[in-house]
Amino acid sequence: MRILLTHIQELLQVRDNTIDKVSGAEMAVLPLIKNAYLLIENDLIVDFGSMSALPETNYDQKINCEGRVVLPSWCDSHTHIVYVGSREHEFVDRINGLSYEEIANRGGGILNSAKKLNETSEEEIYQQSKKRLDEVISQGTGAVEIKSGYGLSVEGELKMLRVIKRLKENYNLPIKATFLGAHAFPTDFKENHQGYIDLIINEMLPKIAEENLADYIDAFLETGYFSVEETQQIIQAGKKHNMPAKIHVNQFTAINGIAACVKLDALSVDHLEIVTDEDIEALKNTITMPVALPSCSFFISIPYTPARKMINAGLPLALATDFNPGTTPSGNMNLVVATACIKMKMTPEEAINAATINGAYAMGVSQTHGSITIGKKANIIITKPISSYYQIPYAFGSNLIQDVMINGKII
Ligand code: NIG
Ligand code: FE
Repeated sequence: MRILLTHIQELLQVRDNTIDKVSGAEMAVLPLIKNAYLLIENDLIVDFGSMSALPETNYDQKINCEGRVVLPSWCDSHTHIVYVGSREHEFVDRINGLSYEEIANRGGGILNSAKKLNETSEEEIYQQSKKRLDEVISQGTGAVEIKSGYGLSVEGELKMLRVIKRLKENYNLPIKATFLGAHAFPTDFKENHQGYIDLIINEMLPKIAEENLADYIDAFLETGYFSVEETQQIIQAGKKHNMPAKIHVNQFTAINGIAACVKLDALSVDHLEIVTDEDIEALKNTITMPVALPSCSFFISIPYTPARKMINAGLPLALATDFNPGTTPSGNMNLVVATACIKMKMTPEEAINAATINGAYAMGVSQTHGSITIGKKANIIITKPISSYYQIPYAFGSNLIQDVMINGKII
């Protein structure tokens, strides 16, 4: 099956295959072709260029994209899409003045979601999660990472990861699974942190590795959650099972966690609402991708990641949703891109780079996704007619997506 898209007003993020992420000043450059064509064969991008250079070619279907923008699908490298129920009562508690920390201390927060998850069948969890995945795909996400972390017990964590595995089997977009047993200390281990860490390392991880249920490992490195030293133990244990780390860090406090993650070759460090000069230094010239989650900042009214400072220091930056029931009940990457521009003063070019190629890097799929590149998967967004790609962050409340294509098929 060959599909030819013609007269594309702007074809964004066209790259050769040597680029797996962009950093610093490069982030301001979003290569594009105006009045372009794009040729797709089966699930792959096989050619693109300017309409004036369109070769004689055969095809099965032609789509006229006049007035439309075409870009690679969003790569959402940080989500907790697998969860049960919702936490809107905590949302209202926050409106009435309680903080995220105060709610957690009352047994709300992560432990609230963990209780629900442990009481729910795998089938029911799958059905609830599938709905969210369908929704984010319709919003333009074409590659996604999903974390466990609402089990906090051997059975609960395995159950979550098996749901993610089933999603992987039933959907044809890339889904990366991250084991987040170290999301919070269950009540029984409140006074016995090492006991829970031992449970993660000696009971959960070997079973997860045996069933091949996780690609990455994560921990919530934060004051009141996992310390630097505790997180190091988790990362080291993940390494033994070939699970690189993607770590929640610097959401509320900076406690030198970023440097520790970088030293242990973390693939990404995520949240980063509070970032010090030392943290920025630690990230320079490393393989670790910093990931900002602006819709989390928006929803729980905490600071935004200092993107300008980080990009001006030469760092790369990725954007992701953090879709979860507590701090970001939204998986809409369009809103993330808009919020990054509006609140973090990222330019549209920087934000789109951060939400495509850099997001792909942050979940290990940049060889196949995240740009319009010959040989990459045909996961793309086709917008409605719009005046320019600036509309994507500008018209922040509108749904500008006409069609999404996954592996060369319109969904
Ligand atoms: O990324 N900060 C830690 N974990 C999630 C929130 C989890 C929850 O509140 O359910 C986050 O924001
Ligand atoms: Fe998260």
